[in-house]
Formats: sequence, structure tokens, C-alpha cells
Amino acid sequence: MASLAQPAPRFSHWSQKLKKGALDHLPGEDGIPVLGTTLRLVADPIGYGKHLHASYGTVFRSRNFGVRQVSLIGPEANELLLFDRDKVFSSEQGWGPALDLLFPRGLMLMDFEAHRVDRKALGIAFKPEPMRHYADALNRGIAEAVAGWAGPPAMPFYPAIKQLTLDLAADSFLGMEWGPEAARVNRAFVDLLNGSIGVVRKPLPFTAMGRGVAGRNYLVELFTAETLRRRKEGGGQDMFSQFANAKREDGSVLAVDQVVDHMIFLMLAAHDTITSGASSLLYFLLKHPEWQDKLRAEAMAVTGSKGWLAYEDLPRLELTEMAFKEAMRLIPPVPGVPRRALKDFVFAGHRIPAGTQVGISAQLTHRMPQHWPDPDRFDPLRFTPEEVAKRHKYAWIPFGGGAHMCLGLHFAYMQVKILMAHLLTRYVLELEPGYDPPWAPWPIPKPKDGMRVIFRPLA
Ligand code: HEM
Repeated sequence: MASLAQPAPRFSHWSQKLKKGALDHLPGEDGIPVLGTTLRLVADPIGYGKHLHASYGTVFRSRNFGVRQVSLIGPEANELLLFDRDKVFSSEQGWGPALDLLFPRGLMLMDFEAHRVDRKALGIAFKPEPMRHYADALNRGIAEAVAGWAGPPAMPFYPAIKQLTLDLAADSFLGMEWGPEAARVNRAFVDLLNGSIGVVRKPLPFTAMGRGVAGRNYLVELFTAETLRRRKEGGGQDMFSQFANAKREDGSVLAVDQVVDHMIFLMLAAHDTITSGASSLLYFLLKHPEWQDKLRAEAMAVTGSKGWLAYEDLPRLELTEMAFKEAMRLIPPVPGVPRRALKDFVFAGHRIPAGTQVGISAQLTHRMPQHWPDPDRFDPLRFTPEEVAKRHKYAWIPFGGGAHMCLGLHFAYMQVKILMAHLLTRYVLELEPGYDPPWAPWPIPKPKDGMRVIFRPLA
């Protein structure tokens, strides 16, 4: 059984064991004593990343949160680290320091063969039959919620899509009726999320981490009982029931605490990423009304003006998909991906020793002018099949790549397409005159003030 009282133990192999000076030969900055470069990174992650890239090239070191780390920039670096042909890079040890306390043993905290086996078993939840079921649930929930968004006045979009995504997850992910229990699950999950980015990393009373651990304990208890029930009674089409009954290649079911941990991790992986991606797509459609019109015409043609987007029709929203891809190029929901090197390796002529925390940057790669001409311009036509074929496969990595590539990416496309179909067949989306919503870039990009949007009913 997963521990109810405490978060998972922190494994000693996550602490850095590099010899002093082991990275001195690499270009980069150590920053100020104790804090290193942390303050500069936190104050302006995009600006500081650009500065390091411009000053030192495709390989540079910095020192954040007490750890020296090495960044590798560009499509070749992304391929090396994500495809990981020689099994050099540990995802578990890369993400562990940030996620192990509250989200232990999720797929991103597993490596190599054990990871492959569990990932294959969980893949059952993303097969066409359950996906069709989620599509219906998403259409129902989104149609009902957005019907109440009509303006003016403007309303903050970000909190609304965050709440809606939680409510939709209760239905599609957990198979729960909306009601007091779903509300309690949502509250526990929000506490867990807030705990994961809290400054205090110990579960002390009255801290975000303390509430996060309490939230985790509640979810572990509930999900443990629910896994057993779903196994006994047979499950529905929701993701949790699929996980509860998932089988490995050898025919064994996952242990109950593994199902629970995978489920909690999945909710983490799905939640802020979708809300961030949907918000950035909306942002660019607000700034580029000509693209809003194109996507509306497409949604009208495919759904017959009703907004209800059938599972079979998802591929027909081609322009919407291209616009979503372009929005995630400019504002990737996961700006960077960490790993830890298990063996020495060489990249761009630099020798990097085993034990180094390494990271790649979607944020910087997605704006490299040699791969993305006029990189700051919003242009969904960069994603026509012809344009995609001309580019390096790893120049665009919002969903990662290789063995850990996002397991829920088709779910993410589906939710965002269904959302846009309902919104655009019902409303014209507008910003108040002179208002340009500011963005907080870190740790997951989001509009700083919630992004006030007027949902003006179509005439
Ligand atoms: C726009 C939305 C999303 C974005 C941008 C996104 C991004 C990512 C990225 C970059 C990774 C790889 C991290 C790495 O290699 O270290 C990842 C992994 C993952 N994502 Fe997503 N994600 C999104 C939505 C979702 C959704 C909706 C789900 C579930 C329904 C999901 C489930 C997962 C899982 C389980 C993993 C771990 C896969 C593994 O380690 O094998 N994600 N995601």
C-alpha cells in the first residue's frame, strides 16, 4: 500500500554526486555565492535563457536551487536526450528532485524497462473505444459550462478553464458524477498542485506542502478503495477504471498502489498543461482575429454550427490543430525537460560527466531563427505537412519525444479542439480595447491576471 502518513522517501541517488569542479571546463555562469543564478532565472526565465544561449552557445552551465546544471540547446540536443539511444539519461532522476515528494512513481519517475512495461499497460486508456467515451463526456461538460460565459462584461478565462478542466477530469478520468465528492477530490488535487510548487519543501503545518501532503493522503485513501471496487465490479470506460484493470505483457495486473500513483500522476500531467495550452491558443486567436474567423468557419463546417464535435470528426479540424501547435511553439506549456546523465557523454565537442543534471529547452529551441524564420510571428501555416517535412523532427517538442513522449497528447488535442468548436460556434472572442494580457512564464506559463475575455454571442 502507498504510504498514507508521509510523502515518498527522497532517494539518496537523486542528490548530486559530481566532484567539485567537474563542470568547470564548460562555458556558463555560477552566479553569486549560495544562490548561484537562481534569482536571475526566477526573475526572467526566458530573458536569462536567451542571454546564456547568446553568450555561450548550445551548451552552457548555470547553478539553480543549489545544483549546477547543464543546458543543451537545439533540435540535435533534444533528439540526443529524448530519443536516448544509448540509455544515458534518467527521467526519474531528472524530475525526481521536483516531483518525488508528492507525485512519486508516476511514469516520468520511472526509467527504461520498468517504465516501458507500465507505459504499455496504461496505454489501454488511450485506445479508440475509451477515447470515444471521453469525447462524449468532454462535449457534454464543455457545452454546459461555456453556455454560461456570455458577455460583456469580460470574464477571466484562465480560472474558468482551470475549473472546467478539473470538472471534466472528474468525469472522463475518474468516472465520478459532479457533486460533493468530486468537489472534494478537486480540492485535494488543487492542494497537491499548490504544494508541488510551494517554497517550503517540508510538509509543515500551515504550509502549501503540508496541505499538499494532506491532499495526497486523501486521494491515496480514496483511490485505493476505488481501485479495489473497480476490480471487483469491473470498470466503466473512464481512465481510472481502465488503469485499475490494465494488464502487463505477462498478464499481471498492476499493484494497487501503482494504479493509485499512476492515476495521481496522470492528473498532474494533464491539468496545468492543458489549461496553459488552451489559454495560449485563445490568446493568439484574440490577437489574430483573422485566424479566429478561419477556425470558426472550420468548426461551423464540421459541426454544422452546433459545436458538438464527434470523435470521428476530430481529424477534420486541421486548421485548429495547426493553430494549437503554433500556440504551443510560442508558449510551450512545459518549457524545459530535465534528465540526469547516468554515463559520461559528449555533445557539440563538450565532455559532460555522469551525474550531471542536464536539461533541454522547448522555449529556446522553438524560437531559433534557423529553424523558425521570423520566430516571434504567429503563423499556424508552419504546420502544414509540407512545412513539417522540411524541419528537423526535434525542432518542435511541446510533448517531448522518445520513450517518455506525452502519453496524453491525443487527449490534449481532443479537449482543446472540442473546446474551440463549442466556443467559436457560439461566440466572437474579444479583448477590451488597449488590453494585452501579460504572461507569467514559469514554472508552467499562464496569463498573470487570468486574461479577461469578452465572449460576445454570435449575431
Ligand atoms: C497541452 C497539453 C500537454 C502538454 C504540453 C504535455 C507535455 C508533456 C511533456 C513535455 C511530457 C514529457 C516529459 C519528459 O519527457 O520528461 C509529457 C509526459 C506525460 N504526459 Fe503530457 N502534456 C500534456 C497533456 C497531457 C494529458 C492531457 C495527459 C493525460 C491525459 C498527459 C499525460 C502525460 C503522461 C502520463 C506523461 C509521462 C509519460 C512517460 O513518462 O512515459 N499529458 N507531457
